[in-house]
Amino acid sequence: MAGKRTFTMIKPDAVENGHIGAILEKITASGFNIVAMKLTQLSKRDAEEFYAIHKERPFFGELVEFMTRGPIVAAILEKENAVSDFRTLIGATNPAEAAEGTIRNLYATSIGENAVHGSDSDENAAIEGAFHFAGREIF
Ligand code: TYD
Repeated sequence: MAGKRTFTMIKPDAVENGHIGAILEKITASGFNIVAMKLTQLSKRDAEEFYAIHKERPFFGELVEFMTRGPIVAAILEKENAVSDFRTLIGATNPAEAAEGTIRNLYATSIGENAVHGSDSDENAAIEGAFHFAGREIF
């Protein structure tokens, strides 16, 4: 059964470019409720752990450097079919391929600096949410 929660980050590029407000507006207007949220910054160790699945990929070093270079917004979102509906809302990994009107189409810079993260499964949504938030921070 599809779960009700997903995890997202507004990445350093989108924060630097002043898009926090517009992205949150799009998320809530699309029917997601924010059940946890904070402005934070990943350490190198955090980013290496969060993206451990990609550690053998050629872009891993750049990805860690990018994700640690400034603040991010981390949030847990609630909606029916949260994981798949949120992946649709953000669009393809590469903004050049992201559908019109998606968050990456509107706000991402490149495949590496692509504005937002969205969990790719219910299992990862739970793991990623717990990575960033204590139980008492989730409503
Ligand atoms: P991935 O999990 O494949 O994409 P998504 O974020 O859409 O689930 O990749 C994780 C992040 O790694 C991606 O958001 C940006 C970065 N990345 C690159 O920098 N270059 C690449 O070629 C790919 C595939 C990903």
